Amino acid sequence: MRIHVVDHPLVAHKLTNLRDETTDSPLFRRLVDQLVTLLAYEATRDVRVGPVQIVTPVAPTSGVRLTDPQPLVVPILRAGLGMLDGMMRLLPTAEVGFLGMMRNEETLEASTYAERLPDDLSGRQCYVLDPMLATGGTLAAAIKFLTDRGADDITAICLLAAPEGCERIEKELAGLDVPVTIVTAAMDERLNEKGYIVPGLGDAGDRLYG
Ligand code: PRP
Repeated sequence: MRIHVVDHPLVAHKLTNLRDETTDSPLFRRLVDQLVTLLAYEATRDVRVGPVQIVTPVAPTSGVRLTDPQPLVVPILRAGLGMLDGMMRLLPTAEVGFLGMMRNEETLEASTYAERLPDDLSGRQCYVLDPMLATGGTLAAAIKFLTDRGADDITAICLLAAPEGCERIEKELAGLDVPVTIVTAAMDERLNEKGYIVPGLGDAGDRLYG
């Protein structure tokens, strides 16, 4: 598993505003949207393209285009939905699948309550969207869901991650023969006793959708 913490002043600036408790929901949604687009630029560094020939108004030339099958973008409901538009701005031809997952706030275990994904993900690059990687239970379960369907390359875009969650995913995915990359704007210090990321930004779902 590869973890890529995006080190960019604009990302850091927007993340600081996102964390700020005085940031209201409308601004929070805009910042999430902008941050995702910035992170998506890094996250799609290995998106598959193939050579094509085109003709410009001046001359023929060669270039590249995204290859089929198009990438699959998977927002994890509910908070991941706030990241979808920002991602689709960069990958407008991607297909979208949905996973509804909820963390039990007592046990901190994730359960799946909705799923709308293509049955066969063989040969697909998948981009999972979830703002928070806390204990890692949600993302580990989502990755297993996708690899069970045949996904062969998975990148998760998270606004914030906790070291404990990354360790758990690493452990749970040991032996999995699929490249997994986590792209995040920050690796925070730790989790608190309630499983919240510290310093974090609070509950992303509540701050997005109330
Ligand atoms: C939050 C967050 C992640 C998950 C992370 O979702 O958006 O999906 O918790 O926690 P984990 O790494 O410990 O599993 P939540 O379950 O609160 O649902 P929501 O998106 O509907 O608010």
